[in-house]
Amino acid sequence: MKIIKLAQSLLHRHFWFVALFQALLISFSLVLAWLLRFDYSLPYRRMLLVALPVLILIRLAAIARFGLLHGWWKYTGLSDALDISKAVLLGSGAFILAIHYGLGLKGFPRSVYMLEPLLTASFLVGVRIFSRVLAESVRLDRASSKKVLLIGAGIAAQTAVREMKRLNCGYAALGYVDDDRSKHGLKIHGVPVVGNVKDIPLVIEQWPIDEVLIAVPSATGKQMQRFVEICEQANVKFRTMPALSDIISGRVRISEFRDVRVEDVLGRDPVKIDMDSVKREIRGHVVAVTGAAGSIGSELCRQILDYGPRELLCIDQNETGMFYLERELAARNTPTAVVSCVADIGDSERMLGLFKRHRPVAVFHAAAYKHVPMMEANVQTAVQNNVFGLLNFLDVVRDNGCQSLVLISSDKAVNPTSVMGATKRIGELIIASQPKEGLRCVSVRFGNVLFSSGSVVPVLQEQIRNSRPLTITHPEINRFFMTTSEAVSLVLQAFTIGNHGDTLVLDMGVPVRIVDLARTLIRLAGKTEQQVEIKFTGLREGEKLSEELFYSTEEVCATSFSKIKKASNHKQLNDLPVLLEELRNALYVDEAASIRDKIKKIVPEYSSPSRPDAHEFAAADHSEKWAAAVGD
Ligand SMILES: NC(=O)c1ccc[n+]([C@@H]2O[C@H](COP(=O)([O-])OP(=O)(O)OC[C@H]3O[C@@H](n4cnc5c(N)ncnc54)[C@H](O)[C@@H]3O)[C@@H](O)[C@H]2O)c1
Repeated sequence: MKIIKLAQSLLHRHFWFVALFQALLISFSLVLAWLLRFDYSLPYRRMLLVALPVLILIRLAAIARFGLLHGWWKYTGLSDALDISKAVLLGSGAFILAIHYGLGLKGFPRSVYMLEPLLTASFLVGVRIFSRVLAESVRLDRASSKKVLLIGAGIAAQTAVREMKRLNCGYAALGYVDDDRSKHGLKIHGVPVVGNVKDIPLVIEQWPIDEVLIAVPSATGKQMQRFVEICEQANVKFRTMPALSDIISGRVRISEFRDVRVEDVLGRDPVKIDMDSVKREIRGHVVAVTGAAGSIGSELCRQILDYGPRELLCIDQNETGMFYLERELAARNTPTAVVSCVADIGDSERMLGLFKRHRPVAVFHAAAYKHVPMMEANVQTAVQNNVFGLLNFLDVVRDNGCQSLVLISSDKAVNPTSVMGATKRIGELIIASQPKEGLRCVSVRFGNVLFSSGSVVPVLQEQIRNSRPLTITHPEINRFFMTTSEAVSLVLQAFTIGNHGDTLVLDMGVPVRIVDLARTLIRLAGKTEQQVEIKFTGLREGEKLSEELFYSTEEVCATSFSKIKKASNHKQLNDLPVLLEELRNALYVDEAASIRDKIKKIVPEYSSPSRPDAHEFAAADHSEKWAAAVGD
């Protein structure tokens, strides 16, 4: 082993060593060609000795010309073989000319002109292949490597196996399993395809497999779920390949396997957006994001930065959140000027100052209070922030030359059963009723995003980590889910295609039962359902069993993007300003119940909770109910 390593280090570091070694191969080829030509004898030795140094010089020059004077032979491939053939051909031409016209060796045997280059080329290619095989076998030091079985024997799995052999990544592939029967029995890169995916438990019984690697980057959520279930049956650790997009962008290597995440199992088609159209709207402009420190707002800031705005105005009242956001965005070192404003969007004076100074052309409005039970207990605050905060903010935005505003809405705005949802619906109505001139206003409605602050996945994960029972409000409760990055990409696309007053709705796929999500999280945490208790705590105030994306009165219209629909509602709410004024007047004089009544006048579909006052609920079993968070 030491000798191989020493030879490799000499090859890599010392050009002269590589040149000398190849010169020896060339000499050996010439002598061998001579022996073959003259029945294993060496006549005309003077001619041979004169020709040899000339041949060596010419061949080394040709080898250098094709960049082959390096010793990284363990990475050799077809391109090296091609370059060697070209170098040998070029060298042979030059050698024949040198022998005939330079040295005048008229009797030089013609068959040697043929034999020598064939031998030289074979040795130069052969030594490289040998070196690569040797290097790979040394690296495939199986005793200390993790022995793995790959799910999938397609291009991705094959590339992963090649990388494992090439890099010292501590994995040794023992086999593939693939449902494509035509691959069974094949050996791909020296690794056998041993059966179907369902055979994993059998393979694990017979072979010393440490880990299963899921090498199917195109797997759907359902397929991923099946792989996970089979691995669990087999009681074997499993990991998956990074996303194709990350591999292609060069952020990760194909062999950097990672734990399976909940978003892999929920699996949705990757979102494709027309990035050029987004770039056109953002590049070189001043863009503002409110609620910038929040889950949606911060992702908006990240993605908007990628499109190169001149200035990014981040607005949020959460000082700590802004501190972290500023640090994160600064670390990206983009030429965009990032301005962090710790401010309340309802503070008109402050907003006016900001908008006058920076004059953003586009605003993404994600600032809002969103936690359903918390807002049930704080009805005035919810309305003040989500409705009147928006109204005040819109005045500032409209009066300062801004061209577009996108309101982030929620599926909770549809037939709302909570104050939070109702305020989001009022927001949509406000947006739809804005005057047509000047500012283009669009609402974008969508369901839950995974991992947003206080949402169900992080809460359940924390309970699993702390070995506490998982609290879910109802066995049948379900929600739409998408990743934050997916939702925000579509919001940016919606921003480019939305017309004034539109409510655009993102395609959320099919809803997922929270109890199924919990079971998946248990499995992904390496535990079994027997080890983790699931407790049903009863629906919370304002919580629905299922969310909807459209009102029955809305017409679902296609847009130029299949994942974005338009909700058309022909109902006009002419008295909205009057009703809003009534709501404003009720805010600080009336009880929550009366405010709810005023909300109902604006959103007749709003069904308020049957309990007399939500404050009582909040005081009652706060901790138990909070743990079962299925909020936005
Ligand atoms: N998270 C989800 O799953 C989800 C899904 C669909 C829609 N939405 C909607 O997106 C919006 C943002 O959600 P999120 O998950 O990012 O919430 P979040 O709580 O993570 O972020 C909201 C941010 O807004 C800020 N904010 C609130 N009021 C403000 C004010 N008056 N002035 C300045 N800043 C203010 C908060 O400080 C917070 O940082 C909400 O309207 C929510 O209903 C969220």
